[in-house]
Amino acid sequence: MTEERKTFNGKLFCGQSNVRLAQAIGAELAKFTTFDGKVDCVAGDFHDEEPDVQFTDNVRDADVFLIQSTNRPGGKNLVELLAMANAAKLADAGKITAVMPYFGYARQDRKVRARTPITAQAVCMAIEALGVDRILTTDLHSGQVEGMFRRAFPNLEALPLLLRKMRIDLGLNFSEMTFVSPDKGGVVRCDETGKLVGCTRITFAHKSRSKTDGELKTMRIVDPDLVEGRDCLLIDDLVDTGGTLAKAAGKLKEAGARRVLVACVHPVLSADRKTRIPAMQVLGDAPIDAMYFADTIPLSEESLAPFPVFRAKLHTVSSAPLFAGAIAEIHLHGSVSGIFRRTAKDIFQD
Ligand code: R5P
Repeated sequence: MTEERKTFNGKLFCGQSNVRLAQAIGAELAKFTTFDGKVDCVAGDFHDEEPDVQFTDNVRDADVFLIQSTNRPGGKNLVELLAMANAAKLADAGKITAVMPYFGYARQDRKVRARTPITAQAVCMAIEALGVDRILTTDLHSGQVEGMFRRAFPNLEALPLLLRKMRIDLGLNFSEMTFVSPDKGGVVRCDETGKLVGCTRITFAHKSRSKTDGELKTMRIVDPDLVEGRDCLLIDDLVDTGGTLAKAAGKLKEAGARRVLVACVHPVLSADRKTRIPAMQVLGDAPIDAMYFADTIPLSEESLAPFPVFRAKLHTVSSAPLFAGAIAEIHLHGSVSGIFRRTAKDIFQD
């Protein structure tokens, strides 16, 4: 018996930040709704690289979903999203949802020194001013950013997708493992994830950074006794230069960890500003056995080719089903909470 597809009359478009994921979201949505799977990229560049945006379809009164993240080049991708929102509004779109699989700038969520901006707030204010009704994202760096946008800002969770894939690929028994947050700020995330899958051994790496340039100075594992002889899972929302994860992995190995695994949602993967060493090199050299990332930021085979060791440890898990599910619920006036609330069922079903 074939299940009846839900009627979906919304329209999906994307910018250039992650066309592959946008199209995967469209394909997923088409599996269980009447959506035709079409997600046109409506943004290009003028000669000077300013955004050249035009909708390919009539959007008057439509429920419009604009899929665009602010991964590198973050400024360009952000302006592209703003231009898309402006074009949709001027074309009389009914509702506009900015689907931002990776919401960058979220680490700038407070004033760290005198006379510095809260850039996450500036980004939210700009998106709100353009008439966007809702931002849909996953694994926002910190929950407080949700309060900087005064409309709905559902924040999904992709970690269960990563854990499920790791359990299947590696045959993990989470209750025998130690979960480790690579910094103090991620302890709640790590603890909640542990509770979800029955892991009670939770610890974190205490790191100190230089006040002037933010450079990582020292790190120690708070409960090394929980680490010895165990498989350890480092859990983080994002990896940037790779310094935090690489250093934490080294400390775990020193403390006698058996295997060091990584579950991290957003692969920002930059080169360190000072050393210029790319994150893929840093993580390739680190004592990490396997890394699982979501596809919120695209990694091309071309960019991976110079880093074969990193490539061999890398596993990418698609976040498309998560976003397709949330888009369908939003369009059909359903509940998104069942999607962003992590459940053990998500992880333990085959
Ligand atoms: C910090 O709070 C974040 O969750 C990441 O741990 C951090 O931003 C990673 O940075 P990097 O990879 O440059 O050490």
